[in-house]
Amino acid sequence: MQTPIIHQAIQFLKQGKLIALPTETVYGLGADAKNEEAIRKIFNVKGRPVDHPLIVHIADLSQLSDWAIDISDTALQLAKTFWPGPLTLIFKKASHVSPLLTGGQNTIGIRIPNHPIALSVLKNFGSGIAAPSANRFGRISPTTAEAVREELGDAVDLILDGGQCEVGVESTIVDVSGNDIRILRPGMISAKQIETVLHQHLSKNKNNIPRVSGSLELHYAPKTKTHLMSVDEIKNYLSTTKNFPLAVMGLTKISNAKMDFVMMSEHPEKYAHDLYQTLRELDKKNYREILIEKVPDGVEWDAVRDRLQRASK
Ligand code: TXA
Ligand code: MG
Repeated sequence: MQTPIIHQAIQFLKQGKLIALPTETVYGLGADAKNEEAIRKIFNVKGRPVDHPLIVHIADLSQLSDWAIDISDTALQLAKTFWPGPLTLIFKKASHVSPLLTGGQNTIGIRIPNHPIALSVLKNFGSGIAAPSANRFGRISPTTAEAVREELGDAVDLILDGGQCEVGVESTIVDVSGNDIRILRPGMISAKQIETVLHQHLSKNKNNIPRVSGSLELHYAPKTKTHLMSVDEIKNYLSTTKNFPLAVMGLTKISNAKMDFVMMSEHPEKYAHDLYQTLRELDKKNYREILIEKVPDGVEWDAVRDRLQRASK
């Protein structure tokens, strides 16, 4: 069914306008992936360098061959297992695909998101929607409609409000464009889950890795200076620093009259769900610094650990 707001979103896409749409991971800044003018707008609004490729979102598997070629059985197996869901697959691109979308590379990122509003827009639109996260380049991805408004204001023509994103961090990106299947960006679908489906180990080969803007060292970052530390390092730091007021975010309760403490969940899914919203709120409070307790070593923490490292370089 097409509600009036979805209808308007489709009209805007057809007119080359930008819409913000909720997905299960983070909000995306969407445009018609076949309209080069609209794609240019995405880069302008985000302030994103043009060599950082965009992900194309599609409604179902039958659309995959509109965008990608040389689709291996392994890739299909991953798509069938995890789509719709927080997984982006990198394929060789079809020849008609604009190099503007792919940052000049010969590969393209594709994903079917698992959110009723995103899926409804995609089904009714009938073609691919290019959508990076709806934040300014390098900043924290938005996980609520309000956060999109803070990031982009009037630069986006329509914001579809789908509530808070369930996953909270961006999709896992897996390169299936060559022989080495490898993770380019960790997400809540872990390396272990992917290896279990494929009955093979993923490649750790770092040669010829395509550019991934999420792999820049400082990314997903608050404006406030942010440090990642062990509990002991935090305690030592608190006993010597004069840099107050400051906030500590962590899994181990620390009491100190001079700082604010935010307790995070010991469950990685819940931690990921809350992460960006918590950082965004702390970032508004004019702390001199934010200290974040390191998370455990297990693979289930890979996505959270990766984003914390990038927020705090
Ligand atoms: O969960 C997500 O993936 C969200 C939602 C909106 O779908 N999107 C997202 O898009 O995080 P973005 O543009 O913020 O991050 C996409 C990442 C970038 O780091 C980009 O460089 C990488 O995907 N990427 C896209 N196409 C690629 C390609 N052909 N080769 C390598 N990396 C690619
Ligand atoms: Mg992004």
